[in-house]
Amino acid sequence: MPRSSEPVRRHLGRALYDEIRARIADGTYAAGAPLPSTRSLALERGLSRATVSLVYEQLAADGFIESRAGAVSRVAAGAALPEDRARGSRRRGGPAPASRGRFAGRVSDFAARIDGLALQDARPSAGNEIDFVYGPLAGRDFPTRAWLKALRAVERQRAPRLAYEDPRGNLELRRALQRHLSQTRGLSCTVEQLMIVNGSQQALDLCARLLLDPGDPVVVENPGYRMAHHVFEAHGAELRCVGVDEHGLQTDRLADVDRAQMVYVTPTHQFPLGAFLPIARRRALLAWAAEQRAWVIEDDYDGEYRYAVRPEPTLLSLDTHGCVIHVGTFSKTLSPQLRLGYVVVPERLVDTFAAAKRLADRHAATGVQRALALLLEDGSYDRHVRRIRRLQHARQQALVSALEARLGRQVEVQGAASGLHLVARFPGVPSAAEDALVEAARRAGVRVYPLGPLFHPRARAARSARPAALVMGYALLEPQAIVEGVRRLAQALESRPWTRSDFA
Ligand SMILES: Cc1ncc(COP(=O)(O)O)c(C=O)c1O
Repeated sequence: MPRSSEPVRRHLGRALYDEIRARIADGTYAAGAPLPSTRSLALERGLSRATVSLVYEQLAADGFIESRAGAVSRVAAGAALPEDRARGSRRRGGPAPASRGRFAGRVSDFAARIDGLALQDARPSAGNEIDFVYGPLAGRDFPTRAWLKALRAVERQRAPRLAYEDPRGNLELRRALQRHLSQTRGLSCTVEQLMIVNGSQQALDLCARLLLDPGDPVVVENPGYRMAHHVFEAHGAELRCVGVDEHGLQTDRLADVDRAQMVYVTPTHQFPLGAFLPIARRRALLAWAAEQRAWVIEDDYDGEYRYAVRPEPTLLSLDTHGCVIHVGTFSKTLSPQLRLGYVVVPERLVDTFAAAKRLADRHAATGVQRALALLLEDGSYDRHVRRIRRLQHARQQALVSALEARLGRQVEVQGAASGLHLVARFPGVPSAAEDALVEAARRAGVRVYPLGPLFHPRARAARSARPAALVMGYALLEPQAIVEGVRRLAQALESRPWTRSDFA
């Protein structure tokens, strides 16, 4: 006869009973798993053995565990109730849909919108796979010696007073960066306009918080940088997807957009197709934005890697209205793990951005900012960029030549003149076959990434009327691995016919 849980509740073992039930619920103790012996648990918790035995008896009577005299107690099959499992998976970081669980506290509209986004990180590749992933850099390319030297110098000069800094960032870094941007990108801005952020992503998030209200229309490139699309959508913006051709954003299509509060563009190297926005389109975009009174976010994420294109004036340098917000990052030259980026904001927004940054996280970490300032000041950053640009150029050339040599007319290379990735288009393969091509490549030992997910899901027409294409990053790979990777990709392409009717 099952006993009531009253005796246990009254007993010192109540907390232990609840704890074991919680561990069964969250899956720490799975069905069939052995529980510790009553003796060891009593010792560990400073309880009497009788108390622990009583708890086990009660758990057995309630059907959570099976215990027999002389044998270890085990978790009973089906002991975790469905609602317990739901609660458990949330505790381990799983999703928390509002309909599940017992506590029905309200989350913000922002949280609800984020729950609706399909945010994904690339899965790590298996050991023997050749991975044409775009985003990560090779650890061996990091300027470790110069960085450690700079960090040590920073540590030696630790200030007597460890206080919060200016939310816009360390002054020495901003001064050094101002000089650097003026020399390398022809940017002219004051130190006040320059703010150090935790990667471009934080700059985009601040722009969204400060310049957008729910329902505001934002023009984005399609295909485009989905992390930017996501952050604007998270803040309730309505995306207006504008197509991209071999010259970047189709500015003549802007006339179809009735109103915009913001435009987000990657003019130096359109992500992902790689186009360079010509000066005439830059001017057209700025004129249109001024007419709309729209902010223009210029994301200059990999401007350091120009192999075969002339530097054109940035949108910021062409801006006569004070509507351009220029965003840059050290994720492509040093490491995405440093989380160091910058934003140049129009003068009238300087204080607002500084206040928002202060509220978000006070400021970027001081030590790494000062170390970077030293690298910029003593010339090691420029030397590093020159070295890494040569390396990336060699990888880019290896990839372009291998694709042309192996695949000939089966492939068209797009956007290879700058950056750390290119787009390989396969005119004989329909776009509907992209996932199958990626899977065939995986079986051949090479990881490649389809273009499809970089289109906004609502802009499907643009997705279907095009050939299959892959976004191929080369920053992680040496030329030899690149050549072998392309050989495997060619093998995948030969593994089956790619007729349109098979993928209708
Ligand atoms: C278009 C674009 N912008 C910015 C970034 C860099 O983001 P972050 O500076 O937040 O690392 C990337 C990285 O892949 C990118 O593709």
